[in-house]
Amino acid sequence: MASSVDDMALATRTDKRPSMTRTLWDSTVGKKTVMAVSGLIMLSYLVVHMMGNLKIFFGAGQFNAYAHWLRTIGEPFLHYEWALWLIRVVLVAAVVGHAVSAYQLSRRDIKARPSGYVHKRARASYATRTMRWGGIILALFIVWHILDLTTGTVHSGFRPGHPYQNVVDTFSTWYGNVIYIVAMAALALHIQHGFWSAAQTLGVGNATRDRVLKTLANVLAVVLFAGFVSVPVAVMTEVVS
Ligand code: HEM
Repeated sequence: MASSVDDMALATRTDKRPSMTRTLWDSTVGKKTVMAVSGLIMLSYLVVHMMGNLKIFFGAGQFNAYAHWLRTIGEPFLHYEWALWLIRVVLVAAVVGHAVSAYQLSRRDIKARPSGYVHKRARASYATRTMRWGGIILALFIVWHILDLTTGTVHSGFRPGHPYQNVVDTFSTWYGNVIYIVAMAALALHIQHGFWSAAQTLGVGNATRDRVLKTLANVLAVVLFAGFVSVPVAVMTEVVS
């Protein structure tokens, strides 16, 4: 009898114990890990996306064929657009995971900050503020960009299946250029600091590797900025038309 009462008490205690995933998610290091891993997933996508965009320099035929190929990856094993949808699901999960953990970490940071620590706050918050504002700008940009070049909702004269013409149209307007170039600058700053932070969270950094990691973060930021911005610049200068 005594043992069954003990068993029940143990079972109740065990039921209430949070799962490992829950404990990890609730911890600051868990949320930072989610930010680092989701950030690296998005970064990989951006490197591939930027390289794909450069196909615009090979003409409409090559660029449109590349966009079509994106929809037929894995055929005939996979159906039309299945691989693309898989990529989209992974990207949405990464964006949501990144944004939710960023929001929760910043709430924690604000709550934990001792009042009256004016200097510490001013010094510590420059990078943090840049990251927060950069993140918000990028989230708004991604929504605009999808409505502009994927669904065509905000793009007058959008032609489905003709991304070359759609891209040229976008960069033939002054506001198209402003939106994209500002977003690319925000992206470069975000990657420069974010890549470095991710390396620290994942424990890759140490005294000797830190310089290499910082250089790598700078190189990634510059290459992505230059690669992406080369497209609007090429349209503005009529290298691509
Ligand atoms: C000058 C810079 C850029 C150009 C010219 C460009 C071009 C394009 C084009 C043409 C598409 C539609 C592809 C298609 O439907 O075949 C697209 C989709 C997309 N781009 Fe960009 N892009 C640029 C920058 C970016 C940046 C910086 C990001 C992220 C921060 C981004 C994220 C995306 C996403 C998420 C999609 C939707 C993919 C999908 O679901 O089909 N792009 N881009």
